[in-house]
Amino acid sequence: MKIGELLGIGNTARVYRWGKTEVIKIFYDQSSAINEAKNAEVINNLKLRAPNYSGLVELEGKIGIVYERIDGPTMLWHIEPTKQSISYNAKLMANLQYEIHNVENKIIPNLKPEITNKVNNSQEISNHEKQIIIDILNFLPDGNTICHYDFHPDNIIISPNGPIIIDWLNLLVGNQEADVTRTSMMIQSHSLPPNAPNWLIHGELREFFNKEYLTEYIKLADMNGGFLERWMIPTLAARIDEMQGEYRQEIKEKLQIRLKK
Ligand SMILES: Nc1ncnc2c1ncn2[C@@H]1O[C@H](COP(=O)(O)OP(=O)(O)OP(=O)(O)O)[C@@H](O)[C@H]1O
Ligand SMILES: [Mg+2]
Repeated sequence: MKIGELLGIGNTARVYRWGKTEVIKIFYDQSSAINEAKNAEVINNLKLRAPNYSGLVELEGKIGIVYERIDGPTMLWHIEPTKQSISYNAKLMANLQYEIHNVENKIIPNLKPEITNKVNNSQEISNHEKQIIIDILNFLPDGNTICHYDFHPDNIIISPNGPIIIDWLNLLVGNQEADVTRTSMMIQSHSLPPNAPNWLIHGELREFFNKEYLTEYIKLADMNGGFLERWMIPTLAARIDEMQGEYRQEIKEKLQIRLKK
């Protein structure tokens, strides 16, 4: 089959049309391709709103993952720059994440070990700080909830058949609090996608999106918001090496402020 039109460019891959009803996701890094393909196989057997995965294809020496094509803009581009639209979509995002967190699974929890590995492998954290962060993480509750762990408005396609969640590179199983903290941290970060919409560049509206999202999730799950600060230290620590330049610096500073408290 011949590769079709370019549909999207992400941080880890490019996505093209593939035949009449599918897309092919071609990764820059081959180990990420293998990882996401493994997750996609697991996801096909769970009741999640995710594109159906059809298999791997080798294309010009690179691995491509073939998925069902989902038409529609991502939530990021679907949101209008009004408080009403931002509030509606922030609440929808909370509901979609809560739905993921309630999907039954039999996967062995891997979230805390994954965060521990990321912290231990970081070039940016001293050994002393690593120990403090891992001690904090060990005290946080386990859990057996599916966590997308990259859950943000650009990974939700608003299709004619309802919202579909894409980009399951992580698929971690652990405590839902960790996943919500990660999403909130990402919304608050100044690292934005290229040509980001105006409402996202506008710090006040981004904060409003974060507040509406958190309030809705906390209400749905009947939780107390105190978990956010408890998880923030390991969440920031695991994020540092995923970022570059000034955004890495931003995350490092947020972590340092909390470690000094
Ligand atoms: N199944 C699909 N159907 C239609 N378009 C898709 C599909 N999967 C991905 N896309 C498009 O490709 C873009 C990039 O996909 P995806 O988010 O999976 O890549 P990524 O490189 O992992 O992204 P990120 O930058 O979030 O790490 C999406 O924003 C979307 O526009
Ligand atoms: Mg993405």
